[in-house]
Amino acid sequence: MQEKSYRYINAIRKQPVDRTPLWIMRQAGRYLPEYQAVRDKYDFITVCKTPELATEVTLQPIRRFDFDAAILFSDILVIPEAMGQKLEFLENHGPKLSPQILSGKDISELSVNNLTSRLTYVADAIRMVRKELNGKTPLIGFSGSPFTLATYMIEGKPTRNFKFIKQLMYTDPQLLHRLLSMLTVAVSEYLIMQIEAGAEAVQVFDTWGGIIPPHLYLEFSGNHLKTITSNLKKYNCPVTLFSKGGIELLEKLGDSGADMLGVDWMTDMREARERAGHLAALQGNLDPTILYGKREIIKQETVKILEVFNGQSGHVFNLGHGILPDIPVDNVSFLVDTVRETSVKLQEKYS
Ligand code: CP3
Repeated sequence: MQEKSYRYINAIRKQPVDRTPLWIMRQAGRYLPEYQAVRDKYDFITVCKTPELATEVTLQPIRRFDFDAAILFSDILVIPEAMGQKLEFLENHGPKLSPQILSGKDISELSVNNLTSRLTYVADAIRMVRKELNGKTPLIGFSGSPFTLATYMIEGKPTRNFKFIKQLMYTDPQLLHRLLSMLTVAVSEYLIMQIEAGAEAVQVFDTWGGIIPPHLYLEFSGNHLKTITSNLKKYNCPVTLFSKGGIELLEKLGDSGADMLGVDWMTDMREARERAGHLAALQGNLDPTILYGKREIIKQETVKILEVFNGQSGHVFNLGHGILPDIPVDNVSFLVDTVRETSVKLQEKYS
């Protein structure tokens, strides 16, 4: 196959780019009226499991904003479901997984053999999206991290204090390690399936890694991420690790072999670049709620992030976490225009 030149991939590889690439975490979603129209007819899980529908909503933000990367429409929780838990999305309550995983017996009942055979709808959607994108825009596949998946599997529902997973961490760490090791194998196989189906980059969401005390982060999350990147090495597919938890976590993931590290919005991008920019490309990190703000401030904050890199390669512009469901679409258009105009200007100034 012909080697394509994608701005997103070139920035990750720190190769020359004509401007800073941009995509938005959760770019397919409820802030888009065309997404709402699909959801009026089909529930969320049906959209995920029907390749034609998943393809349609994956492409919606690309049509509207011409982002520099598409991300497959799916959810991190399809893995626990394929392992045997019941997955529901309750209106206004977020995801629910049942039964909760609390004991060795619960873990033994999870089924991991031939896991990817229960996720073929994801591979089918990837093939369909690639066909539609036709080499114009790269497609990102993704998974949750083992720790983040374990959090949902053990808690069963959204939580404030992470009581059940932390209780397990501090009463029977070996049992938690057993589940995390299973998930590390599952996530690796799942991402390999996505790469083989046509995903041109992958991102692992370690959304809850930051709830672990820093001295235990590698043991319960980071080391599993490192195993996953090393399992993917031979596929030569760019890997991004997104962990919410600040510069200290970026540094801890510095030797992970990841090509890019996601920077959350609570982290100062200038400091992140100084301390971790030499370890990998960086992605981020506009505070998602800035998109509720005045245009003047959206522009000011966007320029501030872009100026950290001065138009140099090695940065993918994104939010510092997923876009919120009620963000005005016009503000997203304004952000997209601002990133494009500003990064071209910075390129000209510094090249
Ligand atoms: O980025 C994209 O556009 C791709 C699609 C995507 C979704 N979920 C679609 C989705 C991705 C990459 C995810 C990842 C995901 N899912 C994460 C990790 C990233 C993060 O934001 O931290 C997590 C923790 C989940 C679990 C999950 N799924 C939650 C907590 C929720 C409910 C939150 C909410 O906004 O209601 C979901 C549901 C979900 N996943 C929606 C979408 C578009 C909303 C479903 C709807 O249409 O009602």
